[in-house]
This record gives sequence, structure tokens and C-alpha cells, in this order.
Amino acid sequence: MLYNPVNNSTLALYHTAAQTQQASVYASWCELKEVEQPPTVTTASLFLDYAGMWLCMPNQPRPYQPSDADLLRRAAVGSAGSELAKACGGNLQGQRVLDACAGFGSDGLLLTQFGARVTFVERDRLIWVLLHARVQHLENSTAICDEAFNVLTAAAHPADNWDVVLLDPMFAPSAKKALPDLGLQYLRELTEPAAASADDLSGLVAAAQHRCRGRVVLKRRLKDPLLDRVAFQIKGKSVRFDVYLGTA
Ligand SMILES: C[S@@+](CC[C@H](N)C(=O)[O-])C[C@H]1O[C@@H](n2cnc3c(N)ncnc32)[C@H](O)[C@@H]1O
Repeated sequence: MLYNPVNNSTLALYHTAAQTQQASVYASWCELKEVEQPPTVTTASLFLDYAGMWLCMPNQPRPYQPSDADLLRRAAVGSAGSELAKACGGNLQGQRVLDACAGFGSDGLLLTQFGARVTFVERDRLIWVLLHARVQHLENSTAICDEAFNVLTAAAHPADNWDVVLLDPMFAPSAKKALPDLGLQYLRELTEPAAASADDLSGLVAAAQHRCRGRVVLKRRLKDPLLDRVAFQIKGKSVRFDVYLGTA
């Protein structure tokens, strides 16, 4: 399902001959081009081969793909990923989770490892294609290209409310010298124009609370200011999870 993508410029999806059929799934949203190997690009583009969907960035010698191996490490007990699961309520088996700022989907995918059924929402079309290709084989999970606020304020039956809503908008740029991991660096580069028009975080949390019967979890940097109404926080080494109670 695709609604109102933010990134409306022409998006190139390069693919090998063997992946022609798989690439055609994205024909409505991308210009498809057959190639033998990852192209050198001047604008961010996509490349599909036997190993899945890749992101090609200008001036980067190799394409990038988010790593599933990192996910398994994060799902291990006692790791940073378990703090996210704890913030979401601990027992996630069968829970309906909305990952409303999904990016490459790593946090939501982590929650599927704990048994959650996750709907991923991403507003940038290029990022959404990478996300969709990554999660399409999961049972009980979907990836929607839309603005989170639209999904949260759409008319819905009470049965369609969420047990958990996870909000992880981009952090504001910081003066810190250390670079985030490559995936986050690319997400930042790709979303900079949209991030410049500051999101109404408080409004997003309120909309999420309205459609959630359990917890709304907002990922923040440790030193970010606190919004009001927070029920409690779970702190990790570099991020914290602010938990708000749903009102649905
Ligand atoms: C920090 S990244 C999310 C990373 C993600 N948690 C992961 O594990 O890969 C933020 C992403 O949310 C998207 N985003 C931010 N605000 C959004 C909104 N209001 N609606 C939909 N997507 C949003 C951005 O385009 C970006 O891809």
C-alpha cells in the first residue's frame, strides 16, 4: 500500500536481468533500469540483485544494505535491543505494533523477534522501497509509505487500534563529533530536507496516544528535552525511551 510519499523526485531502481520480475513490483514508484552490476550514481538510487535491495549513494564505492546479523545481536538478552522491548512492555507475543517512523525497519524488525506483529510506516519513498523489500516476506507485517500523522489520524475501527506505537523520528543534528553507524548516516542524508521542517513531536505523541491501548514509546537522545505527559523512561547508553500511556 502506498499513499503520499514525501520524496517525489524520479527514483531509479537498477536491477539485474534475473530480478526483472521482482523489480516490476516497484514499477509504479520507480524508473526501472536493467544493469549487470551496481551503478555509479549521482543521486541516491536503488539496486536489486539476488541478495536483495541495496542503497546506492553518490560518491560511495559500494552499495549499502541494512544488516540482519546486527538485528540478531540486538535481540539477544541483555543487549540494547532488550531495552527497547522492555519499554514496549516486555511480553510482545502477538501484540499489534505500529513502527511509525520506520526508516530501514531495524527497531520494528527487532520487535518481530519478540513475537510482535508490526506495521511499518515510512514517509520517504526511497527508504520505503528498501524497507518494503526487507520486510515483505514476514508474516503479519506490512510496510506503508505515508506520513505517520496520516496513519494515526485516519478513521479506524477500535479493533484497529495499536497495542504499542513506536516513534523514532530523526534526532536533531548534534555538535558531537562521533558519527552514527553508516545506516543512520545515510538516513540522515536522505531525510535532511524533510527534517528541516521541524516535526510537531508533541502532536505526534498525542495522536499516537489516541490510537494506542498500551504504550507509546518515543526514542530520544539522552540529553533531549522531555515532553510533558511522560509516564516513565528507560535509559540506555546513548538513547532513552520515553513511555507515554495510550488512551484508546
Ligand atoms: C531515525 S530513523 C528511524 C530508524 C529506525 N528506527 C530503524 O531502526 O531503522 C527515522 C525515520 O523516520 C522517518 N520519519 C520521520 N518522521 C516521520 C513521520 N512523521 N512519518 C513517517 N516517517 C517519518 C524518516 O524518514 C526516517 O527514515
